[in-house]
Amino acid sequence: MTKVKFLSGESIPLEMHKVRMVQKVNLHPIEDRLDAMQGAGFNTFLLKNRDVYLDMLTDSGVNAMSDNQYAAMFQADDSYAGSETFYRLEATLQDMFDVTHFLPAHQGRACESIISEILVQPDSTVLMNYHFTTSKAHITLRGGKVEEIIIDEGLSITSDHPFKGNMDIDKLNEAINRLGADNIAFVRLEAGTNLIGGQPISLQNMREVAKICRDANITTVFDASLLADNLYFNKVREAEFADADLRDVTREMGRLMDITYFSGRKLGFARGGGILTSDDTLFTKMRSLIPLYEGFLTYGGMSVREMEAMSVGLEETLDFDVISQTPIFVEAFTEELTARGVPVVTPPGGLGCHVDATAFCDHLAQPEYPAGALAAALFICSGVRAMERGTMSEERRSDGTEPMAEMELVRLALPRRVFTLSQVKYAADRLAWLHQNRELIGGLEFCEEPEVLRFFFGRLKATSDWPEKLVTAFRADFGDSL
Ligand code: F0G
Repeated sequence: MTKVKFLSGESIPLEMHKVRMVQKVNLHPIEDRLDAMQGAGFNTFLLKNRDVYLDMLTDSGVNAMSDNQYAAMFQADDSYAGSETFYRLEATLQDMFDVTHFLPAHQGRACESIISEILVQPDSTVLMNYHFTTSKAHITLRGGKVEEIIIDEGLSITSDHPFKGNMDIDKLNEAINRLGADNIAFVRLEAGTNLIGGQPISLQNMREVAKICRDANITTVFDASLLADNLYFNKVREAEFADADLRDVTREMGRLMDITYFSGRKLGFARGGGILTSDDTLFTKMRSLIPLYEGFLTYGGMSVREMEAMSVGLEETLDFDVISQTPIFVEAFTEELTARGVPVVTPPGGLGCHVDATAFCDHLAQPEYPAGALAAALFICSGVRAMERGTMSEERRSDGTEPMAEMELVRLALPRRVFTLSQVKYAADRLAWLHQNRELIGGLEFCEEPEVLRFFFGRLKATSDWPEKLVTAFRADFGDSL
């Protein structure tokens, strides 16, 4: 993606690819969308794709693949052990991150399970810039604790800090002194910090964290799942790297961290994952778990076709035109919403646009799930499927009380190379309409609440007839338009 000046003087994002394969999508009338939302228990995870117009639930496993990726799939060498496909992927990753070892795994959370199993002891602590749901779950499952030491700006919705995903260096030193290095299982840095709005981490911050940890003999772990977006920001927001080759930036990151892992559903435009290290001892420990949980060492639960696609996709990640598409669209989306008074996380990050449901639905209390209600209302008035990232996504405590989330966000993910600018504008326009009519959005309550991962499977209902009133207001303003 690049930006070009139009005659009007406006800078317009321009796709640096053309679309050669398409999938038909449906935009049903609003009454049918209301039925679909009710059928899904007001939980966007439970919607059927056939009822969705724009699927902005996630960027995981739904990024568009290139012609070269599809072509590479044909040369997949299918064998249980020793396939050429594995050696091609291994060589790509070794070169990209400047590491000696690669262990394949079926997706990102499988890597997290293996890393936690070898490093987390009961009552040990993992320090991190911010958690991701699965990364935290694997640590706590093994009796470990998580402490987040992100810079203060990371948790404020609006900011102009260019790297809101940075770790606070003073807090890191303080935590090491307080806990003692021996009680710290590892320090985890997440690229493109997902849950705070896809916010990047600077390479300078990674250098500082790595030095402190190396001096204190603490293992560092880098979650590179959202590295593509992060690399874009290293280049455009970190002066030192303005002219840098993305390959050099990535290789430095790989050298700084003891372990790097990634979800190949995000990084590499395919599906799978893997762990990288140059540390022989860590490698040997982790290696023994791969055949146990994932599959033999030369496929780790992945299909060889996906591995071929990933090798090519990883190379494409080092092309600035390719990786800039999502961040530039997120910026356009965020700017459009800000101009129209819709509260969003700023500065724009990667992954998607994040709407601040606390401000959007300031008439709703947190136990009424403002982010869940906003995601449901958005689907009803647009057919756009977003993801709740607020209190609904928290787990109830063992005493039955409900922790309130630090932020109530609705995430509109922009899978890479999938949507067009007019589709993004449509989503922004319907959100702007919803914002003008926000008083109509009411609360939700659980009618079926699973004990674990309730946000995936739980079913809710509206606390009044607000969804029907929303439909009436939509019809009054848009007539018989979809
Ligand atoms: N780390 C980060 C930063 C992620 O965003 C994800 C997944 C994972 C690890 C786990 O990887 O799904 O391959 O097992 N994020 C998805 C999302 C689920 O929708 O944001 P996985």
